[in-house]
Amino acid sequence: MSDFSYSLDLVHRPRRNRKSETVRDLVRETSLSVKDFVYPVFIMEGNCKEEKIPSMPGITRKSIDILLKEVEECVSLGVKAIAPFPSIENAKKDSTARESYNPDGLVPRAVAAVKKKFPDVVVMTDVALDPFNSDGHDGLVSNTGEILNDETVEVLSKMALCHAKAGADFVCPSDMMDGRIGVLRSDLDSAGFKNTSIMAYSAKYASAFYGPFRDALGSAPKAGDKKTYQMDPANRREALYEVALDIEEGADIVMVKPAGYYLDVIREVADFAEIPVAAYQVSGEYAMLVAAAETGWLDRDKVVLESLMGIKRAGAKMIWTYFAKDAARLLQSK
Ligand code: PBG
Repeated sequence: MSDFSYSLDLVHRPRRNRKSETVRDLVRETSLSVKDFVYPVFIMEGNCKEEKIPSMPGITRKSIDILLKEVEECVSLGVKAIAPFPSIENAKKDSTARESYNPDGLVPRAVAAVKKKFPDVVVMTDVALDPFNSDGHDGLVSNTGEILNDETVEVLSKMALCHAKAGADFVCPSDMMDGRIGVLRSDLDSAGFKNTSIMAYSAKYASAFYGPFRDALGSAPKAGDKKTYQMDPANRREALYEVALDIEEGADIVMVKPAGYYLDVIREVADFAEIPVAAYQVSGEYAMLVAAAETGWLDRDKVVLESLMGIKRAGAKMIWTYFAKDAARLLQSK
């Protein structure tokens, strides 16, 4: 009994549904599962190589042999989807980004190695020119500095085919060129890759939260920014336009990126699209939470799960996150 006696005559007491852990479990509307996660990994040439990424503590670039060990760890944690992103030596970059479709390149070799050892792991490859392009842009750059659309799509299609041949389960165009989904679908189909799926980065914003990722790959644009192809963070309706086009052109899954500051867009896309929606909790979102946890200002485990729950609640069916392994461990111990 308490010392206080004031009493309201209330019919509705929403707190009743929160009165115990078990009741909270029963009424919970959203659940997070290790099955929701896609784990992005940074890869590099070499043997037994692993390099830290200063702006992403806990994340490394690694050679394929070390990647295979990490995939084994992922599988043991229940994380069964990975997305490799390549760090390419400067000597292999040029203004045509031709290394992007080299059948002996880093990405196809990594895909083949992972699929050989772990056939059930789903491998999702990035289709965009920035890691291979000496200009650091996702598309080809003309001599006047324009990011060329149609000419880029031709290269993206070669890149997607190269990944499909290596065994990629999904090719994931993150370049934001117009019309690329339709071309990739028809070129994959005519080459016999009808079962290679397309995850379209449909609503990808021109975000400053990609900074640490560009540090990881050394892929920042040499000049200008990405605003003529990535979306303006001010726009919401335009995301639906992009999503509608990608669905019409044959996307299997559409993505919203970044995630945490774009929850309204995730919700809107999830209500609108009849196909699954992915969200990418990007490198800057990771870096922010890790930095605040390292200073002791935030409780890392709790904010990791809360940030992912927020993204799931907003409507994402799956989440690309650098916290995939941490979250898997946290969910196991629950
Ligand atoms: C490349 C690409 C980027 C990211 C995923 N694919 C960077 C960019 O568009 O500049 C960002 C991912 C992250 O920040 O974690 N097209």
